[in-house]
Parts: sequence; C-alpha cells; structure tokens
Amino acid sequence: MIDLENVREEFPSLSLKDENENRITYLDGPGGTQVPQIVIDAISDYYKNSNSNTHGEFKTSKRTDEIMNSMREKVCQLLGAESKECISIGQNMTSLNYSLARTLSKILKKGDQVIITELDHEANRGPWKSLESYGVKLVEVDLLEDGTLDYYDFKNKINQKTALVAMGMSSNALGTINDFNLIRKITTKFNSLLLLDAVHYAPHFSIDVKSLGCDFLLCSAYKFYGPHIGLLYSRPGLLDSLEPERLLVQDQIAPYKIETGTLNHAACNGVSAAIDFISSLGSGSSYREKLISAYKKISVHEYELASKLYSKLKSLNDLKIIGQDFSDKNRTPTVSFIHKKYSANEICKKLAKENICAWDGHFYALKAIQKLNLEKIGGITRLGVSIYNNQEEINRTVKAISML
Ligand SMILES: Cc1ncc(COP(=O)(O)O)c(C=O)c1O
Repeated sequence: MIDLENVREEFPSLSLKDENENRITYLDGPGGTQVPQIVIDAISDYYKNSNSNTHGEFKTSKRTDEIMNSMREKVCQLLGAESKECISIGQNMTSLNYSLARTLSKILKKGDQVIITELDHEANRGPWKSLESYGVKLVEVDLLEDGTLDYYDFKNKINQKTALVAMGMSSNALGTINDFNLIRKITTKFNSLLLLDAVHYAPHFSIDVKSLGCDFLLCSAYKFYGPHIGLLYSRPGLLDSLEPERLLVQDQIAPYKIETGTLNHAACNGVSAAIDFISSLGSGSSYREKLISAYKKISVHEYELASKLYSKLKSLNDLKIIGQDFSDKNRTPTVSFIHKKYSANEICKKLAKENICAWDGHFYALKAIQKLNLEKIGGITRLGVSIYNNQEEINRTVKAISML
C-alpha cells in the first residue's frame, strides 16, 4: 500500500490555500500533475551546480553529459526499453510526433495508408493528417458510443497499404484503455509500423515496450510528476534507418538524430527525479522492479478513489457519466461527465470557487467529443485522480457537485 500522507508531504503545492482557507484539490492530473520536492530540487540544483552545454572539457559540462545520460537510462528503465539509445528527448509529445511525421513523409509513398483513431488526442492525429498533402491516405478507426474503439472497423480498414497505425494507449478524455495488444497482432500481419501515444497511460500503469512490440512510443513527463519534456522511444535500429530533419553538425545517430538544438538540461534532471520518485514508491532488487511494483500500488490507489468517485457521481441526479464504468479495472482513473443544468465550463468555475481544479471542454480529443455529440454543449467536465489525491478530496468534490 501507498503511505499517502508521506506521499502528499512530498508535494509542496498541495498546501496552497485560497482566500477562504480552502486547501487546493488537484483533479486536473490528465492536464498535468504536480511535482514532488525532489523534482523541484533537481531542476534548481542543475542551475546551481551543473549549468552548461554538453560535450565540453570542463566540469559542469561533463556533469551535464552525465545528467543527460542518466536521464536516458532512467527513461529506458521506465519504459522497459532495450537501451538508452532508444530514448529521444523533445520539447513535448506533439513536437516529437510532428518530427516523426515529417520524417516518415520521406519514406511513405503516394497511396500508402496511415490509420489513426477518432478517440485520440489531436497530437496523435494532426501530425499524421498533415501527410495527406504528400498523397498519403488517412483512415480513422470509428469510436463507439460507449467510448471504446470499434475493432471490427479497424480490421476492415487495415490492409497491405497500411504503413503505420498511430493510436493512443488510453484516452485522456474518457479514460478508455485501448486494446493495443490486439492492434499489435493485426499490424504484425500487415507489416505496418505501430506508434503508441502513452501520454495518458504512463502516469497510471507500467509500460514494457518490448512486450508491447511497438515501433514508436511517446509520452510526456509533465503528466507523471515531472517537468515539461516529451519522450520518444524508437525500436532499436529504426531511427537510424530514417532521415529526420536535422543539422549537419548534429549527432547523426539514434537517439540524437531526431533531437534539435540544445535540450532543456535542467528539466531533464527533473525527469530523472520524477522517475526516482515513482520508483521510491515500490520495492524490488532492481530499479525496473521497483518501478513496476510502484505502478501496481499507484494503480490500486487510483482505482480505489476513482471508482468511488465514479459511483458517487453516477448516483447524482442531473449528471451523466461519459465513458466506461469501473467494473473492469482496465481503465484509467479519469472520470468525465455532463450535467443537465450546467455546462462543463460552469461546473469548473463553481469547483474553482471551492479551490478544486478540474478541466472542461474537449482536452484536444476534439474528434471524440464531436463524435459523441458533446461539442455543442461545451464538452465534458473531467476529473482525474493522481497518486497524491485522497478520499477527503473526493468527498469534498462530490459534495460540491451534488450541491450545484
Ligand atoms: C493523450 C495525449 N496525447 C498527447 C498529448 C500531447 O502532449 P504534449 O503536451 O506533451 O504535446 C496529450 C496532452 O494532454 C495527451 O493527453
């Protein structure tokens, strides 16, 4: 079990209060989590003790090289990757995905097909849609009313011309976890590349890229208690076989060849600390074992709170949950709903008055919200449970919503 009081003490921002002395409640995790003190310290420590560019002969530069290497190694452990040479760093997931799309545009032929899904965040749709101008055919997997993908539709749409399937592991709007194992089985038959967006999955569940069998996987550290950094896993050898846009003076091999300019070294030190934070919650003889064990505890804690939140909200009049129920644990702790009397934005404004942070709208999963006919009513209210949330916060939030 998680020692929740200890965990909460590690996050200084949890003690913020509003003018009425209401302690802040963060249920906005799917939009970005809070950071523990060790992440804050790692970032400021970098500027105090190691601030420099890389590959120099002097101490701070050598320390920066070590920090960057160590960060890649920790991300490699987090994702179960083959080596740190599989881990590239970017400003955020969206920029890395655009770079990948531009890179793949050089090898895709006119008439080749790319499959995206109606459930995905625009960051995993827009970059691929931009390939239509090269003659690439874009096809979308249908979203069903219950918030899951239509796998029959996927099977009908994939064919020999499908060069790439780009899909999310889980939906940041509805909390659905997609059947990526089934998708991998099918993409293997058609020899299609598989790219997984793990941005909403990585904060809640452990990832093993080797058993996923994916070619690319993207995630964002600010969703798992770290700073704003995007991360890309590429299957060994794959990035080396591609030609990302890059400067002639840049390292021409993976993982560096898709990275541009000087990276945010201080934030990268923060990413290492965020992964250390997660591993500190687990036990085991290796760093990877600790991470896996920590994620088990994280998902149990989050499921417990989110399923209670779900059933309490479900019992309220005037409120309709959008997305799957919690009978299956294979779901992220993200609960979305609409209200008969108030728009999602009005609800978030009311919650904000109680110092409760929640998001409203489409959260860039625009197509899904349009498909579910929710765009014209202002989208949905989304409450996301993170490791630092407790039962009292859930009770407080349900009470605020029930008194609307
Ligand atoms: C599922 C999902 N994919 C992609 C993104 C984009 O990530 P980034 O902000 O790192 O570009 C987000 C951000 O909310 C997301 O939730």
